[in-house]
Amino acid sequence: MKRCIDDKYLRNDGIYQTVDNGSMAELKVIDLSKEHIPQALDISKAEFGIDYLFENDFLAYIGKDDIFCKVALLDDTVVGFCMCRVFGPEKVDEELKLPESKERDMMLSFRRIGLLDAITLRSDMQGHGYGTILAKESYDEMLAHGVDCVCAMAWKSIRGTTNAKRLLENLGMRSSIEIQGYWNLMVDSPEGHHCPHCDPPCKCYGVLYHKEIRE
Ligand SMILES: CC(C)(COP(=O)(O)OP(=O)(O)OC[C@H]1O[C@@H](n2cnc3c(N)ncnc32)[C@H](O)[C@@H]1OP(=O)(O)O)[C@@H](O)C(=O)NCCC(=O)NCCS
Repeated sequence: MKRCIDDKYLRNDGIYQTVDNGSMAELKVIDLSKEHIPQALDISKAEFGIDYLFENDFLAYIGKDDIFCKVALLDDTVVGFCMCRVFGPEKVDEELKLPESKERDMMLSFRRIGLLDAITLRSDMQGHGYGTILAKESYDEMLAHGVDCVCAMAWKSIRGTTNAKRLLENLGMRSSIEIQGYWNLMVDSPEGHHCPHCDPPCKCYGVLYHKEIRE
């Protein structure tokens, strides 16, 4: 056993041994491939809304270097995914869409940024610690890309809940600027984002989380 995250043991073959519904189960975190897309897409539509990610968005992550998508497989079924993007300061505006602010200036000051872009677990698989494993594996891969900052735009609902708050804090990230209506900027729907929590246009917030990585 190399590593242990709560009650999940990472075996030497890279598989986490875990208990699901009282029986032993195996959790694997691997790179997305084509056959995972239908299940990942169903999870995305339920958790992020019907207009947030499409098949082509997932396809774009396959076989690339600076963008990658990891899937969590529980006994070979997709139970979650995490998309990450690594880029330089020239892409900060395109990728993060931050308003003029000290936070935007700060992000522009980094040399290489790793963005934990979208992470979600199937609803019946949330709260089992699988998101933590998926996020940690993705975070480690971003570090391997030589980033000096890891960040995320976390979804804070109109009701005030940020589901990923603890997950991101556990990785050492801290929150700063909150932008209301942020998710409308990230979709092509002219009426605004079809958010699972509010009618279009979405009134939820995007909250910047970041952590500076020092060598
Ligand atoms: C956010 C999410 C990815 C976390 O994954 P998860 O497997 O459920 O999280 P874990 O079981 O590993 O728990 C990690 C921490 O987050 C907390 N947490 C999990 N789900 C939470 C939720 N819905 N609201 C608030 N906190 C939550 C856990 O209590 C834990 O905190 P702790 O370390 O202080 O005990 C998952 O709940 C999810 O997919 N939510 C819906 C989509 C979403 O909001 N994605 C994030 C977009 S930025």
